[in-house]
Amino acid sequence: MENMDNITIFTHPLIQHKISTLRDINTGSKLFRELVEEIAMLMGYEVFRDLPLEELEIETPLCRATVPFIKGKKMAIVPILRAGLGMVNGIHALIPSAKVGHIGLYRDHETHEPHEYYCKLPENIDQREVYVLDPMLATGGSAEAAIQFIKDRGCTNIKFLCIIAAPEGIKRLHAAHPDVHIYAGQVDKCLNENCYILPGLGDAGDRIFGTK
Ligand code: PRP
Ligand code: URA
Repeated sequence: MENMDNITIFTHPLIQHKISTLRDINTGSKLFRELVEEIAMLMGYEVFRDLPLEELEIETPLCRATVPFIKGKKMAIVPILRAGLGMVNGIHALIPSAKVGHIGLYRDHETHEPHEYYCKLPENIDQREVYVLDPMLATGGSAEAAIQFIKDRGCTNIKFLCIIAAPEGIKRLHAAHPDVHIYAGQVDKCLNENCYILPGLGDAGDRIFGTK
């Protein structure tokens, strides 16, 4: 794992290997979905490394013992529709008590700017630590807008998890929301003329849901 100021890039071989398989044009939707979920879970393992613990007393079959549990933190997972949905189960399995919100955004084909079509966030989201999920950070427009919606509801503690990031997206997101830590599986080379990430993996939503 490479930790810089407000970005973490994953170097774990399991994550690297699974991302390489995602990129392959011959990887079908079923395996693609499974891999997105597994990568999200492996990333989550590191993302949650610093969760605070508290000592509580329990009874084992043999005796009473004081043992560590995760301290009751309020969390929310917010996937950006559609492709972010693929990452939800991997993270939710690690933190089952997290509430899940949804933000629907699609990129205009001409301008590549995001348009909102849905937003449903948990009540009292302002009191939660929020993890925004989207496999792709390309221009950064979708992540920037999604995070702004969440901030507009009073949230101050937001993290962004993506599987592949373009340098252009990282720059835009850091400029717009310098307080938001980015966790990226890998950072790719650049965007093409249609604002797709190169080498990338194509359209993540279409590959997860088999729509193309
Ligand atoms: C994709 C992806 C991101 C966005 C990234 O979604 O899942 O949300 O593009 O691009 P950006 O960083 O340039 O905004 P898309 O708009 O294709 O919608 P979909 O998930 O419904 O396919
Ligand atoms: N959205 C995707 O799904 N893929 C890209 O490469 C860019 C945006």
